[in-house]
Amino acid sequence: MEEIVYLNGKYLPIEQATVSVTDRGFLFGDGIYDVISLYGGKPFYAQRHLQRLRHGLKKIDVQLAMTDAEIMQVLQQLLEKNKAAPQQIFYIQVTRGASQFRSHVFEEVKPTFYARLQSIEPKDLSAGIKVITCEDTRWNRADVKSINLLPNVLMAQAAQKQGAAEAIILSKGFVLEGATSNVLIVEGDKVITAPLSHEILGGITREIVMSVASEFAAVKEEQISKERLLAADEVWITSSSRGIAPVVQIDEQLVGKGAPGEFYQKALGLYEQRIAQLTCS
Ligand code: PDD
Repeated sequence: MEEIVYLNGKYLPIEQATVSVTDRGFLFGDGIYDVISLYGGKPFYAQRHLQRLRHGLKKIDVQLAMTDAEIMQVLQQLLEKNKAAPQQIFYIQVTRGASQFRSHVFEEVKPTFYARLQSIEPKDLSAGIKVITCEDTRWNRADVKSINLLPNVLMAQAAQKQGAAEAIILSKGFVLEGATSNVLIVEGDKVITAPLSHEILGGITREIVMSVASEFAAVKEEQISKERLLAADEVWITSSSRGIAPVVQIDEQLVGKGAPGEFYQKALGLYEQRIAQLTCS
């Protein structure tokens, strides 16, 4: 079955979906994106992702004519036109659009809207993952989910080269987030994550996991120093595509006993319950 994507009002085979070389997304990375998970064809917390997309559009001053309902209709159409899968991601990208001349200064043009529904293979996370740490080289507005991902791309690549699954970003000795995820730690009976700021993306999975963790632990938003990270009983990373992943090694050091912890198992169970509620409804 041929893969169909959505681009500027049309449903097209992926090879035929092309954008202009004058598109500001291509020339300047002038755009934003979001990623929504689907389980059994049902979107997980779509409304929160769309709210974040709107936040980004506002911050970069792009006027998108499409309503949330229209974006969700695109998703429904892509579900009908593509192969079903137990786990999928709905990728949405909006760029400022194509303008005739290359100029840093922008005029209002029609935004480019691209969406793709992709199947993903769930990874076996039962043994936990290794991560590396790296210094922050990103722009200073990480709360905006910009398509400018060069620093994150290089961090993720560096992690892979070292046999790790993620890079944790540090700034002035404190944990911000992962290159593609948020970071949570367990200290005794507490689950802690960095407070929201312009330096991190307000991850939707972070929100859900903090909410499920509050059912069995004290949850706190606090600055996490590198020392605290390395001394934590458990470390987790969260993102829409990976859910919750237990970190068992940071650089050369093991986390706790070097195996996924008890709180992780509890959080995962409750997170999976939320997914199950969704697919039954
Ligand atoms: N990444 N921080 C960064 C820098 C991210 O790129 C992501 C998600 C997150 C977690 O956000 P959420 O829980 O809302 O998915 C945090 C997506 C999955 C991506 O880039 O593909």
